[in-house]
Amino acid sequence: MPVPIIIDCDPGHDDAVAILLAAGDPAVDLLAITTVAGNQVVKKTTLNARRICTAAGITDVPIAAGCAQPLVQQLYVADDVHGDSGMDGPRFGEPTVDALPEHAVDLMYRILTGHPEPVTLVPTAPLTNIALLLTRYPDAAAHIREIVLMGGSTERGNRTPAAEFNVYVDPEAADIVFRSGVPVTMCGLNVTHRALATPDVLARLEGLGTELGRICVELMTFFASTYRRLWGFEAPPLHDPVAVARVIDPSIVHCVDASVVVELRGQHTRGATVVDLHQYLDRPVNAQVAVALDGEKFWDRVIAAVDTLGKRKG
Ligand code: BDR
Ligand code: CA
Repeated sequence: MPVPIIIDCDPGHDDAVAILLAAGDPAVDLLAITTVAGNQVVKKTTLNARRICTAAGITDVPIAAGCAQPLVQQLYVADDVHGDSGMDGPRFGEPTVDALPEHAVDLMYRILTGHPEPVTLVPTAPLTNIALLLTRYPDAAAHIREIVLMGGSTERGNRTPAAEFNVYVDPEAADIVFRSGVPVTMCGLNVTHRALATPDVLARLEGLGTELGRICVELMTFFASTYRRLWGFEAPPLHDPVAVARVIDPSIVHCVDASVVVELRGQHTRGATVVDLHQYLDRPVNAQVAVALDGEKFWDRVIAAVDTLGKRKG
């Protein structure tokens, strides 16, 4: 039976590919896409979710917009990485897929409580919506199988030397999630920086011969240019699909038990995830933390999903 999931995202180039993987892979059942402010303001991330769904023929998955601001601090967007639209590169037409008038958190709660089995949440963005869900609807936790998120790092950050973007944008929300008692799996930069969209990957996507494959190449080409300019990467890391891949096939992303705390006060380290990988501090384990990626299996799954959706759309 496919695993029921909800993706909470801020598309975002890599979020878009996470949506494609979730919609195109038979091992998961994508129940909803919710959006939040992060890579861009929530109006833009929601438009981008509608754009990629339209391009991929994903017409039966509800979309709802969520929080426009982090819980405590001002929003900090990543337009230097994702462009002014939040998903620069391809030219998208007017989307034909709409968002619901419902708030993302209410949609999540409605789906969670109405589904016959617990649902896995896959956040690939700042954790504002998820923290709000857990605090506004405390009974929601009982309906969540686990939270498999892209965020944090066991090592250094990308937004600051210490903090990864999704946690940096809303550290208070991440703190609520890691202390919630809901099973959490953290797929951080230490692993997602190995999910590189190399020229070989781009050639395989182009070789699918579909419009959707071409859109993916254009997305990754733009993403490659910013990763080269900002961080000197030779190929761009597709962070967000790694979390989806972990749900699809846990053997793709190897995890270990660890304690994770979010630094909220550090003068230079706010938003850092402090991960006790070796349980040296004797703190309670509150997460499974990704430490290794099977790149071959990962890209096979991503490309197969894009192929499935691209052919279905025609
Ligand atoms: C994360 O930040 C965003 O820019 C990406 O979409 C990803 O979710 C990586 O740090
Ligand atoms: Ca993201």
